[in-house]
Amino acid sequence: MEVIIQKDPAECVRLAARIFVRQLQIQPNAVLGLATGRTMIPLYAELVRNHREGRLKLKRATVFNLDEYVGIPSTDAGSFRRFLDDHFVNRVDINPARVHLPSARGAETRNVGLAYEKAIEKAGGIDLQVLGIGQDGHIGFNEPTSSLASRTRIKTLTRQTRRDNAEPFGSWEKVPAHAITMGIGTILESRRIILLAFGKSKAAAIAKMVEGPVTAMVPASALQFHPDVKVIVDEAAGSRLRNKRYYKETLAGKPEWQKL
Ligand code: F6R
Repeated sequence: MEVIIQKDPAECVRLAARIFVRQLQIQPNAVLGLATGRTMIPLYAELVRNHREGRLKLKRATVFNLDEYVGIPSTDAGSFRRFLDDHFVNRVDINPARVHLPSARGAETRNVGLAYEKAIEKAGGIDLQVLGIGQDGHIGFNEPTSSLASRTRIKTLTRQTRRDNAEPFGSWEKVPAHAITMGIGTILESRRIILLAFGKSKAAAIAKMVEGPVTAMVPASALQFHPDVKVIVDEAAGSRLRNKRYYKETLAGKPEWQKL
């Protein structure tokens, strides 16, 4: 894992946006795996700015979002569809027909999630996956004890996760208890991954993910198996990393071309 500690969230999103922009310049029809949540708000704002200034074109790109709540319509203010449309899709030139979110249709069968897996496969797989991380180390909505080989399926959210996501719903009890999420196995098949985290509340999860053992109790630790992950954190989120000085020295010694 490449750990990149930046001064503040603004620097983190500038770097993540440069990686994103470069990917689309090299590969205009890239398949993008996207995330929602507070961490992503400044990233999407920066991507929209890049689009308005002519550096980012998404006409030929395809999007697969990591997850969606179960049991609320996509028009609900708390849905991830609304989040993605409001912060990103409706502000750039992406073709809405190429924006996909998992759906819990078929939830009564064991095959829920299969259609999403097939759609990702048909699109050629995910070229660049953007991730946030939960305080409990979840990625997507793969809560602790998720199988590290899991595929897209329905998960029960922890109370902590529902509390963390309460804002658009008014109270945590109104946050749906279930979500459909790409599995950890699905995420690990992405060709490149960037994970963003800001603030002290994420420091323990980041330290466990990067420097702890691989365990289903910290789902993000499975990323240690992936050959191309950039972990981009601000000073606060990186504050509990033991090898901070090494990561900083490594970054300082990198030639420009290796940074994106
Ligand atoms: C959202 C997602 C989650 C979030 C994580 C962090 O699509 O899959 O894993 O990335 O819960 O959320 P924030 O950024 O709100 O702290």
